Amino acid sequence: MTLPDRSSLSRREYVRLAVAAGGTAALSACLGSDGDDASSVDVPSGTDEPESLPTRQHAWNDALTTDEHGTVQPPAHHVLVALSLQDNVVEDGRVDNSARETTETALRALERAYEWSNEGLVFTLGYTPAYFDRFDESLPELVDLPEPEALTGQESPDFDDFDAVFHLASDSPEVVIEAEEGLFGEVETLNGVDPELETDLSAVFDRLEDQRRTGFVGDGLPADHTDTDGVPESVPEDAPFFMGFRSGFQESQATEDRVTLESGPFAGGATQHVESMDINLTQWFNQENHFQRVSKMFSHEHATEDLVGDVGETLTGSSELRDERIDSTAADARSHNVVGHAQKAARAREDGEPLLLRRDFNTVDSGGPGLHFVSLQHDIDEFVRVREAMTGADLDVPMANNGIRHYIFVTRRGNYLVPPRPLRALPPADPDAT
Ligand code: HEM
Repeated sequence: MTLPDRSSLSRREYVRLAVAAGGTAALSACLGSDGDDASSVDVPSGTDEPESLPTRQHAWNDALTTDEHGTVQPPAHHVLVALSLQDNVVEDGRVDNSARETTETALRALERAYEWSNEGLVFTLGYTPAYFDRFDESLPELVDLPEPEALTGQESPDFDDFDAVFHLASDSPEVVIEAEEGLFGEVETLNGVDPELETDLSAVFDRLEDQRRTGFVGDGLPADHTDTDGVPESVPEDAPFFMGFRSGFQESQATEDRVTLESGPFAGGATQHVESMDINLTQWFNQENHFQRVSKMFSHEHATEDLVGDVGETLTGSSELRDERIDSTAADARSHNVVGHAQKAARAREDGEPLLLRRDFNTVDSGGPGLHFVSLQHDIDEFVRVREAMTGADLDVPMANNGIRHYIFVTRRGNYLVPPRPLRALPPADPDAT
């Protein structure tokens, strides 16, 4: 992707395009794009004792900012870097030790360079079933990591059949670009400092440019994209997500503890699902009014009782999904001819607890509006169960009123294991056997 003439764009839009493009040219453009002579990234630096960081790669919440109601604020800029393993890295079911060291060294360089926070950088490295198939042993039974498959009758997605994915996230667009380039030895400094140890993963992984995914989340960022095909002017000014509402309220998210594997060699890890989709925003905004959108996103009662406000601001720390609202999903279908997306997805809660920790972000990777739905959970089967509840094929309601189903079009799915930090660099399928 080439960068457009920046004089015709706002800084926010320009840096978004730089993240989407990636690469060292995008990094330079991004650093220079605010008009000064800045030539290097300058954010809080990381730790000289990477061992002091949490064992869980997905332990982001304590490091991220929260709003006044305790809702975690996701970093603004995200990149999913898809990776294919070089041929000789796993041979005869064994991982080349120097490849493992190279990988761990590069990851530690990131942790030294950037504070583990949304001002700095948070990241995970996850591995697909295809990666683990390279080994003679199987994953321990405690790890539920099937091949991805289509989960609804309406989709025929492509699958993430490569080896691994980095999820890099930061409030600073230049950090996600620089971190990605740094991992592959393409920049001399990380956060203005020479990393000293070599950070070049190109002997270990190839980056799959056509599978690279990018995006953004935060108040006002979606409305910056009204010049993109399929993004109508009616996207609310303050909305953090394209469909116009806040998301990720604390009570509707699984805790990091809930999603973490508690025993076995991968204890401290979690599974991750990535579902990429296009969104028909034109129809969502132009054919529907706010009342209908609230009914379809939350519930009919959220709309009649005006619980949501313009973009979810009156919900404060909770999506107000009390048990009765969740339990009335089927009855709402019959009496009101509409069910809410959040209401029906919440039917999959267990003992009142949500199963998914959602870390999704908006995208325009496909040239129009979309979402990369990244979620962490204990087992992939839990994702499948929640997705079934969200699809709501059991509900007696027209497709167009069945939550947001009518407006989203799934294009890809991928399943991953996000190992604990000590095993994040090229883990064997069964660490106990080696
Ligand atoms: C364009 C796509 C999507 C949008 C705009 C969206 C938006 C939302 C919103 C606004 C909420 C309620 C507020 C909150 O998060 O607390 C919510 C809840 C939720 N969504 Fe989505 N979502 C999307 C796709 C998905 C997908 C693909 C899944 C997969 C299963 C999903 C699962 C959930 C779950 C589990 C909840 C919380 C239910 C609970 O409270 O227990 N969403 N979503």
